[in-house]
Amino acid sequence: MPSKELIAAVQTNLPLIALFLGVFIAILFAITTRLAYIARQRAVSLDQINLDLTREIAEREQAEESKHNLERALLQGQKLQAIGTLAGGIAHDFNNILYAIIGYVEMAQEDVSNDGLIYKNLSKVLEGAHRGQDLISRILTFSRRQVYEFKPIDLKETIEGVLSLIKPAIPASITLSFTAGIDNYIILGDQTQLYQVLMNIINNSVDAMDGEGEISITLSKALRGNPFFTQNPIAQDKDYYKFEIKDLGCGMDDETLERIFEPFFTTKDVGKGTGLGLATAHAIIKEHHGDIAVVSKLREGATFVIYLPTYKNIS
Ligand SMILES: Nc1ncnc2c1ncn2[C@@H]1O[C@H](COP(=O)(O)OP(=O)(O)OP(=O)(O)O)[C@@H](O)[C@H]1O
Ligand SMILES: [Mg+2]
Repeated sequence: MPSKELIAAVQTNLPLIALFLGVFIAILFAITTRLAYIARQRAVSLDQINLDLTREIAEREQAEESKHNLERALLQGQKLQAIGTLAGGIAHDFNNILYAIIGYVEMAQEDVSNDGLIYKNLSKVLEGAHRGQDLISRILTFSRRQVYEFKPIDLKETIEGVLSLIKPAIPASITLSFTAGIDNYIILGDQTQLYQVLMNIINNSVDAMDGEGEISITLSKALRGNPFFTQNPIAQDKDYYKFEIKDLGCGMDDETLERIFEPFFTTKDVGKGTGLGLATAHAIIKEHHGDIAVVSKLREGATFVIYLPTYKNIS
């Protein structure tokens, strides 16, 4: 039992004790609030640092991927160039040989009657030699030994021209559609060469489609946000037209996709494909300072995307 004196002393100092306790609790509360505030601030700045770090990592990953893509494109370009130079050199010599063969066969034909067997056989030799010349002309195209005639041309008219040529030659069960966004698509180009690009790609689509389906071609202005501009630093201050040729044919697996622009790469039966179609298309587009890419999955069709610089900047 506390003594009366103690109780009296406590009672007299009660207000003082309460005051001290109050002040103590207030200080404790202030400190706790401050600590909570600091902790919250830290959490916010940690979140910010975290965000910055995540962004930086994503940027680095993207830069790394762009670098990887550029390196691959460079390697692929060098490989194509090496094969092109080699094939171009051989083709040149071969052309001279064929010229001699054609010349002598024609002379020999003049000496025999044109309804005899010898004349017929010589005609077959000529036919073969001309096919050889055709092949050589394609090799010379992708090995960049072909002379280009660049002038301002309308890409829309060029595509329409190819379609009118190719339509009668493809089965009626395959439809070809073409849509273009704006009116003028002027580029500096060689129309004959571009005809060849389109023909080669459309022929491949026809081959991939097993007799029926749709090939759709679209032409538009390439939008700035397009990954093409980020992946091609030299493209950034130019405007481009973009055309796509899409089919829903057999498509390609990744291994085929990797190699399609290689000269002589073909998955077609002997005698059905030379493997020069896309190598030629690639070389022609590069000669026009453009780019060609393809997106495809096995059994899901293929889309070829071509970028060509506009004659004058349009944006
Ligand atoms: N649209 C497509 N769909 C599926 N595969 C395709 C398509 N386009 C091309 N390919 C594949 O790419 C390969 C190479 O095509 P490329 O046009 O260079 O040669 P090719 O068609 O085989 O022969 P060539 O065109 O010289 O007669 C083809 O053999 C085929 O495997
Ligand atoms: Mg082809």
